This record gives sequence, C-alpha cells and structure tokens, in this order.
Amino acid sequence: MATMQSLIGLVNRIQRACTVLGDHGGEGMSLWEALPSVAVVGGQSSGKSSVLESVVGRDFLPRGSGIVTRRPLVLQLHQTNEGQAEYAEFLHAPRKKFTDFAAVRKEIQDETDRITGKTKQISNHPIHLSIYSPNVVNLTLIDLPGLTKVAVEGQPDSIVEDIENMVRLYVEKPNSIILAISPANQDIATSDAIKLAREVDPTGERTFGVLTKLDLMDKGTNAVDVLEGRSYRLQHPWVGIVNRSQADINKNVDMMAARRKEREYFQTSPEYGHLAHKMGAEYLAKLLSKRIPSIISLINKTIDELNAELDRIGRPIAVDSGAQLYTILELCRAFDRVFKEHLD
Ligand code: GDP
Ligand code: NA
Ligand code: MG
Repeated sequence: MATMQSLIGLVNRIQRACTVLGDHGGEGMSLWEALPSVAVVGGQSSGKSSVLESVVGRDFLPRGSGIVTRRPLVLQLHQTNEGQAEYAEFLHAPRKKFTDFAAVRKEIQDETDRITGKTKQISNHPIHLSIYSPNVVNLTLIDLPGLTKVAVEGQPDSIVEDIENMVRLYVEKPNSIILAISPANQDIATSDAIKLAREVDPTGERTFGVLTKLDLMDKGTNAVDVLEGRSYRLQHPWVGIVNRSQADINKNVDMMAARRKEREYFQTSPEYGHLAHKMGAEYLAKLLSKRIPSIISLINKTIDELNAELDRIGRPIAVDSGAQLYTILELCRAFDRVFKEHLD
C-alpha cells in the first residue's frame, strides 16, 4: 500500500507525462481537470507570487509592482528523501538541474519574455517548473497573472477580459483549490479574488481566503472582522499574511528572515495576537497539505484500478521511444477513464 505522499508523487508524474504529450484527455472532464492543484487568484500586485513563494518556503518567483507574472506558472513540488539536494527543473529545458534559485527566477523571467517579449502582454502558454526537495509537500501550485480593470500603455484593450478568462480556466476545475488573495489595505467588498471565487465556487468549499498586506493598513484600522469571517464568510477560515515589502525585496531579505518577521508581527500584534497561531504562510501551507489528501483518497482507489486496467489492456514493452509514448498515452487515457467513473 503506497503512502499518500508517494501517491501524490505518482499523480504529479502522470500529470507531467500527459502535459508533455499534450494529451488532455477526451471529451468532458479531462485528466488535467481531474487532478488536484492550488491556483492563486487576485488583483494585480495583491501579493499572489509572494504568497506562493512563502508557502513553498523558497525564493524563486519574480515579484514586484505592475504586471510581473505574465504567463501561468505550473509549479510541481516533489518531495524527495531526507538529505537529498534540492533542485529545480523546467519542462522547456529538461535535464538542466537548477540548484541556484536566483537562476530559477531569472529563467522564469527569460522564458516569459521569450514568448511575450519584454512587454506588458500576457500569454496563455504555461511555464512548467518542478522543484525536488525533502522540504516540500507533493503539490501542484499555479501562479497566475493578476486581474486588472483597465489596459495600460502597451496592452491590447482585450487584456482585462483575456486575463480573467485565463484565470477562470484554472479555477473552474472542480479539483482546483483557490487561494483567493485580497490585500488588507483595500476594502474586501472590492476584492476581485472574492468576486471570481464566488462565481466558480459558490459554496466556498474549495476557496481559501488570504488577506495580505496587513502591515500596510491605515493607522487606526484593522482586519479582525475579515479574519474572523464576519465581513465575508467562507467555509474555510481566513488566513492573514505579511509578505516582504518592496523595500525588503530590494534589500534581498531572505525567506527565513521574512517568516520570522511575519511570526513576530502576529505574536506581538495587539489586534491579531489571539489569532497568531492561525496566521501566516507556514500555517497556510499546513492547511493546504491537509486539504489535499481528501482529494487524493479518491485517486488512491483510482490507481489500484488503473493498474488492473493496464493488466487487462496489456502493458506494451517499450522498446523504442514510439512504444514508450504509446504506453504513456495509454496510461493517461486509462487514468482519465477510471477517474471519470469514480466521479460519476
Ligand atoms: P502579485 O502581482 O499579486 O503577484 O504580487 P507580488 O507578490 O508580485 O507583490 C507585489 C508587490 O507588493 C511587491 O512589491 C511586494 O513586495 C508587495 N507586497 C506583497 N505582499 C505584501 C505584504 O504583505 N506587505 C507588504 N508591505 N508588501 C507586500
Ligand atoms: Na505585481
Ligand atoms: Mg505575480
């Protein structure tokens, strides 16, 4: 009996294989749609990339004011054995192992520009990145461009709609967990994240409300009503976050220092002290890894049946790359079929 972690690892591998082959299943619910992932939604510069980075516990994403994230980034975390060296790998540059995470960030920027140029344009074309580390949980996270209200200089008029459609594509999947990011220094009633999350997940069962920039609120105001669920009720509790400021980014404040600062912020806060144990990115990471297994238990059963199915259809011996391709495609289709039956 495989462990939960290795099952998620297997799902990650299948997902990756199917993505490489461009096989997104047949009609209806596709394999891609069926697999669990966590996607960030929110307005531009609300702190989406910062939150994802903090959840992963590594510095590797481009962040900053304005439109920085311009292509979807599908990030697969793979937990490796204790003591193994951490590295990252891009789908577009297979076999190149990145051990320097500053170089990972640079590669994301370069790869973004490769498709869009150094413009303010966006592309639907995802960048696929895998991180292998003993310190991560097996999980797929998706960083997305921020929702905007108007096209700025250098952007087509359609950009507002284009971004919304792109984001929708990721958060509509019934197995997608939505990190709805809202900045605390704006009224929650104006939150694009909450608006979109409510549309695609009306019951709120797969939405996590995340409130960033608590440190940037006007003096004399606080977010206790939001964090305690009185302003806008969600099924899951709200999580407050204090990410690195732009000044911190400019000073290269590292992740460990940022997490320490965030912890201290909540522990010493007169307003949020009583909530401190349920705040911050590390707590959010814990919440997410607890939420995933309920989806995975479904896959657990599926994989046993997938093996039976493969025995039934026969496992072609992969003698050349063509046959290997065939095997993987069969695997994708069988997985898809069995998964759909489970959902019925
Ligand atoms: P994204 O556009 O939603 O991905 O947002 P980023 O993560 O790129 O952050 C945008 C800007 O907001 C950066 O300059 C961050 O330093 C800043 N920022 C994000 N979260 C916080 C926060 O909690 N506190 C402060 N002070 N600044 C933040
Ligand atoms: Na930004
Ligand atoms: Mg971003």
